[in-house]
Amino acid sequence: GSASTNSSAVTTHWGSRLTFILAATGSAVGLGNIWKFPYMAGANGGGAFVMMYLAFIAIIGAPMLMNEVMVGRAMRRSPIGSMLKMTEQYDIAKFWRAIAWMGTIAALVIMSFYSVVAGWALDYIFKTGSGLFSGRDAEFVGSVFSQELAAPVNMMFWHFIFTALTVGIVAAGVIDGLEKALRFLMPLLFLLLLLMVGYSLATGDVAAGLGFLFTFKPEDLSWGAVLSALGQAVFTLSVGCVSMMVYGSYMAPGQKLGSTAVSVALLDTSVALLAGIAIFPIVFAHGIEPGAGPGLVFVSLPIAFADMPGGQFVGALFFILIAVAAVSSSISLLEPAVARMTEVLNMSRAKATLIVGSCTWLLGVGCVLSFNAWSDYTIAGKGLFDLLDYITANVLMPLGCMLIALLVGWALPRSFARGQLSELSQRHFALWYFITRYLVPFGVGVIFLFNLV
Ligand code: PHE
Ligand code: NA
Repeated sequence: GSASTNSSAVTTHWGSRLTFILAATGSAVGLGNIWKFPYMAGANGGGAFVMMYLAFIAIIGAPMLMNEVMVGRAMRRSPIGSMLKMTEQYDIAKFWRAIAWMGTIAALVIMSFYSVVAGWALDYIFKTGSGLFSGRDAEFVGSVFSQELAAPVNMMFWHFIFTALTVGIVAAGVIDGLEKALRFLMPLLFLLLLLMVGYSLATGDVAAGLGFLFTFKPEDLSWGAVLSALGQAVFTLSVGCVSMMVYGSYMAPGQKLGSTAVSVALLDTSVALLAGIAIFPIVFAHGIEPGAGPGLVFVSLPIAFADMPGGQFVGALFFILIAVAAVSSSISLLEPAVARMTEVLNMSRAKATLIVGSCTWLLGVGCVLSFNAWSDYTIAGKGLFDLLDYITANVLMPLGCMLIALLVGWALPRSFARGQLSELSQRHFALWYFITRYLVPFGVGVIFLFNLV
């Protein structure tokens, strides 16, 4: 059951528990899994990074997903509206509202570079589908991606198409239609990934690829890599920038938060690991540099499509499904700002979405140019694209998680969380509460500190 969300106040509920899981999984599973996870694992030395990433999913990502959702569900407004209401209702410092402001803005910044990458995927639907890669080798596939980055107008075009797609869906109301499409397309993406895994294991350098991904080499663990693993864990679960909070505000009361969070984390993690297993044997079989950076997926998978029977069509379908997964994530990046604008500005959903989408597209143009015309302008060796990617995932989102842990664990009474998690046994609640009060603030704090010094 879906309902329209055109009214200014949040009054609708996701139809069922399954619908919320679908929406939250839709937000979680996206480019973070298929594009970012492999390239981050590759750039940070593989196994040790992957272990840390898995640990952070379990002890920070999933518990903080519960935190964010419960705040939205309890307050039933946009994240900014929810935090405002919360500070009044519980008579706590106005400072806490910063969580929602920071998160709403971080989500828009993510949208700007996220839709550039999604634009590459859209372009690659046609590149692969036209047979461009058929029968070609790794060198050719690599040169196609270099040309992609060297052509700003083409990138802006596809980045525009992706932004327009998202704006269209958000303007029409988040809930309508989304769940029906995802119920069918997500399993399809999963199946296609399995196919890629099978192909990669049959034809790639399995020992080198899986060895790289799963061999724990502690000497690879710099504090920088630990922060990147934390950043990847929160980015991939969409926690720390209020996307899950805004979805929580549409969640019906009485649904079980704990098992929902675990389901979302498991689904998201399986997609990321499958993507890694599909990519790295190919990377090593063809002498691609694992630390090649943001283009890793685009220079490795097309090699498989190039010599797989029917690869032209499998590849096109694969990039279509990546684009769909990206749209279902980007929706949750625009929604916090759009929800707030319709709440207070007496503005239609369509108008608010158009304004917000135009802003993120414009910032995305800067990201596009950072690969070519503006490539000389860097801060700490990073162009605008890398900088926004780094700051959102490695600074703003972990900070958001830390603040929300402090809010729920310290500023609010224990009874708030206990009421929201009434389904948990005494022991499970105590464990979760300990994580929220101590482990997350302390853990994130220590990682930040060691990265500063
Ligand atoms: N989790 C999404 C992905 O993995 C990205 C995202 C981050 C979406 C933050 C919403 C909020 O692709
Ligand atoms: Na993800």
